[in-house]
Amino acid sequence: MSVQVTPTAEALADLAAERLASLVASEVARSGECAVALSGGTTPGPILRRLARASLPWTKVRWYFADERCVPPGDPRSNYRGAREALFDLAPIPPGLVFRMEGERDDRDRAALDYARRLPERLHLALLGIGEDGHFASVFPGSEAVEEAVRKVMAVRGPKPPPWRLTLTPAALRGTRVLMVAAGAGKAPAVRRALEGDEPATAVPSRLWRAHEWLLDQAAAAERTRA
Ligand code: 6PG
Repeated sequence: MSVQVTPTAEALADLAAERLASLVASEVARSGECAVALSGGTTPGPILRRLARASLPWTKVRWYFADERCVPPGDPRSNYRGAREALFDLAPIPPGLVFRMEGERDDRDRAALDYARRLPERLHLALLGIGEDGHFASVFPGSEAVEEAVRKVMAVRGPKPPPWRLTLTPAALRGTRVLMVAAGAGKAPAVRRALEGDEPATAVPSRLWRAHEWLLDQAAAAERTRA
């Protein structure tokens, strides 16, 4: 487990962008390429905008999604649209290196299967956020997806609007280096439960990434009892 705490959300976005850039660069140096999964929500935006200004080996990096809302790619709630506006439109990323989930499809289960087939053997990195209920991507507490060991992508119905989503499961993140990022007081209880609590992952899915790298601002770290 590695936890770094910054004084502000801005400093957190700076740190997260630096860490992501350095992890991508070292993976490309090691294996000649890097496959990154991005989550949605509000946390990644400021990080990706900063990352877009970094000098990365852009032609060696492939961009995937940790989850997508079942809306068209132009919809303001679309995670693809968020990443496009914060990164893909701002950095020299060849369009062929962006692999979006087809959230607009009505045949959701089929769309999940098709995306699973497009995934690389291993996603090297994942930038994940945490929900106030402890979810990551669209793997929500009590959902079948938490303990899914075979299917790499599932269509799920969750409590956070919009309800229908496509999500990677823990099976898709085997061997992946996870960067968990959380900002704001609203996340403090979930962060403590995920990092320190003894509840099972079915109750706090983000606890699956306890041993990985966590970047928090002071407000999100406020309830931690162990340094
Ligand atoms: C989504 C996200 C979701 C997100 C958390 C945190 O599509 O909604 O992938 O898992 O990371 O809900 O959301 P915020 O970053 O907005 O707090």
